[in-house]
Amino acid sequence: MKPILVALLLGLLLLSSGCIQPKEAPVVTEKAATGEWKADGVVGESEYSRNMVLQGPARQGYSGGEMEISWKNDQEYLYLALNGSTDGWLAIGFEPLEWMKNADIILAFVQGSKATVLDEYCMGNYGPHIEDTMLGGTNDITEFGGSKGPGRTVIELKRKLDTGDKFDKSFSPGQAISIIWALSNSPDNSLKHNVAFGEGIMTLTKETMTSPVAALTVREMQGMLFIWEEEKAARDLYTTLYEKNNLSIFMNLMRSEQSHMDQAKAIIDKYGLSPPQG
Ligand code: HEM
Repeated sequence: MKPILVALLLGLLLLSSGCIQPKEAPVVTEKAATGEWKADGVVGESEYSRNMVLQGPARQGYSGGEMEISWKNDQEYLYLALNGSTDGWLAIGFEPLEWMKNADIILAFVQGSKATVLDEYCMGNYGPHIEDTMLGGTNDITEFGGSKGPGRTVIELKRKLDTGDKFDKSFSPGQAISIIWALSNSPDNSLKHNVAFGEGIMTLTKETMTSPVAALTVREMQGMLFIWEEEKAARDLYTTLYEKNNLSIFMNLMRSEQSHMDQAKAIIDKYGLSPPQG
């Protein structure tokens, strides 16, 4: 048998035996980020537009764990939440050259109620990673906060897509960013990860996936609510006229105004405006 066929056969045998599992891409969930962003260490239901959970299996030297990453961006900022299964440090690294080398790292931990978030850069394949400021760069994590629950640490932060610092990777809306991540059970950031580590892809949104309300001016919002009120006034008038005269024309007009009200209400709901009563 030709060597290439032997290799193919061996490959197929390994795959079917379950020794090598084809890696499934993590599921990325998407929604409109209608909630207000706050760096309070609590990931709100609609605070971020994208979310994925990355798993790192237990293996020699690693207890196994997961990192949930939630993010959203506008044209200027990246908003990020890291929720790791650890009481120690957690980190994300953007666009390593290979392994950890040249990754733009954010490393964080929470002690008591104090969150520490470091803007770092990794110099070699397996470190060292050093704060940008120590390399002559700048600290560009403009806002951050964190919280800790049993076995979980949550960090929320904000940075510019393009910080202008050469030790930060520059991003643009719509970009697919390759990431690495790691968790340690110790807050001592000189100690290597020992819970889990892994890699992934974080794709930024092209358009701002926040509430469409942001796209409406106050005048437009008031106008939309006024249209609904106006249709309601017409419907109520025709309802009264129909009740008094029992003429089918008023019944038809009443139905037509109700349909206009429903259409206006659908837009009001879509833009998350305070729904009118009635
Ligand atoms: C605290 C200092 C750190 C040290 C000393 C360190 C050291 C190492 C070493 C020796 C490896 C080789 C694999 C192993 O021995 O398990 C490795 C792999 C890795 N590290 Fe780190 N690391 C550190 C921090 C980080 C951070 C902060 C991240 C994430 C941002 C990270 C992400 C990774 C990843 C993804 C790999 C696997 C690379 C690959 O095999 O493709 N490490 N690290």
